[in-house]
Amino acid sequence: MNGPREPIGVIGTGYVGLVTAAGFADLGSDVFCVDIDEAKIELLRRGEVPIFEPGLAEVLSRNRERIHFSTTLEEAIAGARLLFVCVGTPATYAGDADLSAVNAVVEAMPASSEHALVMKSTVPCGTGRAIQRSFSEQGKDALAYVSCPEFLKEGSALADFRKPDRVVVGADSDSWAAEAVAALYEPLGAPLVRTDVASAEMIKLAANAFLATKISFINEIANVCEETGANVLEVARGVGLDERIGPKFLSAGIGYGGSCFTKDVSALKLLAANSGYHFQLLGSVIEVNELQKRRVVAKLARHLGVLAGARIGLLGLAFKPNTDDMRGASSLVLAARLAAEGAHVRAYDPIATAEALRVMPELDCAQRVEDALEGADAVVLVTEWPELVALDWQKVAAAMAGNVVIDGRNALDPVAVRAAGLIYEGIGVG
Ligand code: UDX
Repeated sequence: MNGPREPIGVIGTGYVGLVTAAGFADLGSDVFCVDIDEAKIELLRRGEVPIFEPGLAEVLSRNRERIHFSTTLEEAIAGARLLFVCVGTPATYAGDADLSAVNAVVEAMPASSEHALVMKSTVPCGTGRAIQRSFSEQGKDALAYVSCPEFLKEGSALADFRKPDRVVVGADSDSWAAEAVAALYEPLGAPLVRTDVASAEMIKLAANAFLATKISFINEIANVCEETGANVLEVARGVGLDERIGPKFLSAGIGYGGSCFTKDVSALKLLAANSGYHFQLLGSVIEVNELQKRRVVAKLARHLGVLAGARIGLLGLAFKPNTDDMRGASSLVLAARLAAEGAHVRAYDPIATAEALRVMPELDCAQRVEDALEGADAVVLVTEWPELVALDWQKVAAAMAGNVVIDGRNALDPVAVRAAGLIYEGIGVG
């Protein structure tokens, strides 16, 4: 690294905050992390990491000397000009983004011409403008404001940090802060989208909404394939080779999960509604996804007859592999629906069991995959963890009482499953 790197503050030590801290520390910055959760800060100070994200513990550990943790802002304000806001913006009961954590940070900022608030948290379009107005009302006009949305994917967050598709830096004036943020990302060599604050905010919402739309679209194509005898894998391959469409995010399955898609699609739809526009398409994207999560129940009923009393093994609980995140996970809907039908559900996940039990304490979780398979009438692959995709289907067949395998991610080898004498059914694959 040539010359000293700009130190930064990171407010909020969730997924986005910790990955941002680890990534910039690795590039050579001193990082001052702040979180109001004392227990979490204590844990981080001891060198423990409260979330599962591949490689994160190692990068935090090798940069221990550069990363400082505190429950108050003072150290960050004294040590850095750029304060990255990475606090949560969960959905309210009304489906809008809950900005209370963001607002608390805004309130706590000093009236300083030497500092900038850099918004990484996903916020509705218009938030930056409102924050700058509130700075003005509080006599904090000199504080700079930059929107720098985060696009990382859980499970590959550090790789995404190091190799972003683009870096978006939004500012409403030619501030020093926008230049400083762009300079911080410069070594990554990613295309820079230098724009205004509102557009930067909208880029993030539109990107997530488009990706969710792509998934709901291919899921509906898969459902039509089931009716018509086409195979969605072939269809996605053929469609995805069109450069205007592209092959990614065309995997049909039992619906998207995670905190971002669920929350951001709903937030964008409501943002539009609140500003007087009815975003029809997004209503369908959400509805298709909710129905898709439930379709497996009908598939199971078709194979098993009555679901009451049936023993169902759920393979995987996390909303996708390589994370313990259960937010918006299809498994939650599936487990609840099956339980409501009177089925006995036994689930296994290599990493997310503790998190799943926190959200759904009544869920019967097996410690070993064998225990979820034992005596099952049917099993459903919910999350395509490599160890689940690589199961020995002869052994699975021997352990199960029944013979139905529903592949909710089209990730299994149907030939191997069928060779073990089991019935294979995927999503839209015939
Ligand atoms: C997403 C965005 O990708 C990221 O840019 C943004 O910053 C946050 O939201 P993430 O929530 O980590 O990231 O998950 P992602 O890998 O995008 O997957 C989301 C969900 O969609 C998963 O449940 C996944 O299984 C599902 N999915 C993805 C599909 O069902 N089909 C696909 O083709 C792709």
